[in-house]
Amino acid sequence: MDAQVNMHTDKKALDWANLGFQYQRTDFRFTANWENGSWNEGRLTDSECIVVHEGAPALHYAQQCFEGMKAQTAADGRVLLFRPELNSERMNLAASRLLMPEVPQELFFRGVEEAVRANYSWIPPYGSGASLYIRPMLIGVGENLGLKPAQQFEFRVFVSPVGPYYKQAGLSVISLAVSEVDRAAPNGTGSFKVGANYAGGLLATKLAQELGANEALYLDSAEGRYIDEAGSANILIVSKEGVLLTPKSNAILPSITRRSIMILAEDELQMPTEERAIDLRAEFPTFQEAAACGTAAVLSPIGKIWFDGQWHDVGDAGSVVGPVMQKLYDLLIGIQKGELQDNHGWLHAVSI
Ligand SMILES: Cc1ncc(COP(=O)(O)O)c(C=O)c1O
Repeated sequence: MDAQVNMHTDKKALDWANLGFQYQRTDFRFTANWENGSWNEGRLTDSECIVVHEGAPALHYAQQCFEGMKAQTAADGRVLLFRPELNSERMNLAASRLLMPEVPQELFFRGVEEAVRANYSWIPPYGSGASLYIRPMLIGVGENLGLKPAQQFEFRVFVSPVGPYYKQAGLSVISLAVSEVDRAAPNGTGSFKVGANYAGGLLATKLAQELGANEALYLDSAEGRYIDEAGSANILIVSKEGVLLTPKSNAILPSITRRSIMILAEDELQMPTEERAIDLRAEFPTFQEAAACGTAAVLSPIGKIWFDGQWHDVGDAGSVVGPVMQKLYDLLIGIQKGELQDNHGWLHAVSI
């Protein structure tokens, strides 16, 4: 049964400033189904549970992918998405890689916008420090047993108000521990946002946290030498020469946040940037600042990294937020919240 949407303009009485990064049930989610070669229109539903066949390929063979985006409330009340067309594009790259039907951009946008609009009262208000996390997903459903693609698919979008991904609020320094287990093979699925990459990473995160780190840092799985990425974020480095570096690897997720920050560094800070293989051990002494970046992580400066049995402080800052990362963070969130000029046309306002 379709959900009845009553637009509430009041906000929920949540302690917005102290939200963590946890699932919070909201009122509505969008769902559309693919069968016999086409997508249906889709609709909103109030049920957060999906009933799928026990043989569904998403459950057995991880034939599924997802996206992560955020909506922010601007000072003038607009609800802003950041470069959503890149999430749509990336979801379709993953869909093709896993032999799933693409989600047309029109359906993707409609699903995201309807889910955001229907949950208006859950969108954190301007100035609260929180945002609305948006999780589009595409799963292979329907009866199946052998290893073959599903014949039916569900595209779903749910939303949840969230605070900072790493425990501390605002721009706080994190630590990473180099993982002994690999995330993705050089020609595997590392560059696609598919669930299969993340199940294998749960152990890496647990081991990193046992060492006192916030998150695992993966090196390339061929040689264990070059920086790939963190468990849920790409890596940025400011060299002592003032160049903004980021790893080039076909095993990492092409982060929308990282791609945007590289452009901001060039355009707004006139910084030279380079995307290339970065040898962790050989180049570590040349690092001045480092950060993890992503939709959830935003930009989180890295104070120290564990590798070869000990902690290594990044640059000479230790646990202090470096000046370049601070500027990049301010630029990024300033644009995302509509406080700074959107010179690149990155914002998409949801009609409420
Ligand atoms: C493995 C991984 N790398 C990087 C990122 C960052 O990507 P984006 O900036 O597009 O959110 C994510 C998601 O947040 C991720 O899961």
